[in-house]
Amino acid sequence: LTGELEQMTTSPTADPPAPATEPPPGPKIPALLQTVLMGYGMGGFLDRCHRRYGDFFVVRTVMWGKIYVTVAPDDIKSVFTGSTDTFRFGEHARELGVDQIVGPQSLLFLDGEPHREQRRRVSAPFQAKAVRDNIGTIADIAAEEVATWPVGTPFQLLPHMREIAIQVILRIVIGASGERIDQLREILPKVANSPRVPMLFPPARKLPGWRRYERVRDEGRRLITAEIADRRRCADLSERTDILSMLVASEQESDQPMEDGALVDLMLLLLVAGHESSATALSWIFERLVRCPDVLARLRDALDGDDPAYTEALLDATVRETLRLRPVILLTSRRVRRPTTLGGHRIPAGALVMTASAQVHQSPKWFDQPERFRPERFLTDDIDTHAFVPFGGGPRRCLGANLAMVEMSTVLRAVLERVEFAPATTRGERPAPRHVTLTPSEGATVTVSRRLPVRDGVRCPREVGH
Ligand code: HEM
Repeated sequence: LTGELEQMTTSPTADPPAPATEPPPGPKIPALLQTVLMGYGMGGFLDRCHRRYGDFFVVRTVMWGKIYVTVAPDDIKSVFTGSTDTFRFGEHARELGVDQIVGPQSLLFLDGEPHREQRRRVSAPFQAKAVRDNIGTIADIAAEEVATWPVGTPFQLLPHMREIAIQVILRIVIGASGERIDQLREILPKVANSPRVPMLFPPARKLPGWRRYERVRDEGRRLITAEIADRRRCADLSERTDILSMLVASEQESDQPMEDGALVDLMLLLLVAGHESSATALSWIFERLVRCPDVLARLRDALDGDDPAYTEALLDATVRETLRLRPVILLTSRRVRRPTTLGGHRIPAGALVMTASAQVHQSPKWFDQPERFRPERFLTDDIDTHAFVPFGGGPRRCLGANLAMVEMSTVLRAVLERVEFAPATTRGERPAPRHVTLTPSEGATVTVSRRLPVRDGVRCPREVGH
């Protein structure tokens, strides 16, 4: 009996002080309705559950049975940093149908040692220092894009942010230019935007809409395959810094080269994961800023001031504050492989556990006046690491988190240096689901009220601009 009890209560952290209990209840409405609400009204539904049931509740779904949702930083820490034998994701990524977009052979579908090994192979260009080498390139891409924006007419920022993010990730992952890369640039948003229902319900993959999608996706794969073939014949591989060249070079020295299919899957994962979330987050930054003139004014003052370290910190804090209030990816999930406990509750083997970032980010327990957009909290307040989790955590923490942070603050600076904005409407935009992300419902519609003078790529002092 003792052995059995011990097994039931095996925790990734210290042994629980009290015997584990059954999880508290969740909503009583039918599982089908809960499934639909999770899929389409996710933010509002989770908010209501959180208010009603507290930091731990159980949602019942048709596809995946019970989902154990936690909003407590201690539990979130246990899920992220617990043993990878207990908390796994690869299998669930397949259940979500993500393999239909990016192919089944990349690190996303692996767990444990094979997952660690593949991450190790691709992680160097995503380290903080390596990522900073791209600041100039990112600023140039952003400046070129801003130059195309209309003045005085409302327009959606989201497609423009997508264009910037695609160009950035293509440079880092493939690092080439030319007709094929232009085609890839066109096709990537279409590959990322697969029809949702057939991903989750395989029978729906017989429908014509899915067939059309498959043709687009396969064209994307064909372009990447052709690029890989060219790269294998490339003479200056060792001088190139992009991820594809790095992988091809290292496999030429290895006795176990990656198969073409696996390399295409990995490239596609990085290209797809590397643009949509960043584009969405960038759009939210401006959607929030145009409605918070006091924050915008403080940012402009910092950009005009003579304390570059403070300016950089405030830009970074603005990005963080946006990710806190509009986390882009609301839930991270893990399949529990062995019985465990979370928050003192029993979690059976096979259960799905989810961490709800938006709810923890907006809890007054962890953030003072959580509804306010106040970037300075990230400069002054002592914030619990696991109460702010826009990039997930542990061994599966977003591979591109450093890149995303640098990219967003660089684009934010480049935009603020070049244009002034007015909101197209005063009411904030609603978070609308687009696959796993929540995007601004009106695509972050803004009006550029005027362009600011920029000389030799550098912004002129404010007096000149005003
Ligand atoms: C604002 C932008 C971004 C946000 C909010 C974001 C968020 C996330 C989240 C929440 C996860 C799941 C983490 C977990 O389960 O613990 C994730 C995983 C991942 N992200 Fe990002 N991401 C962003 C940008 C990027 C970029 C630029 C890349 C570049 C390649 C990227 C590549 C990945 C990959 C490869 C994974 C899977 C990691 C694994 O399973 O080991 N992401 N991201």
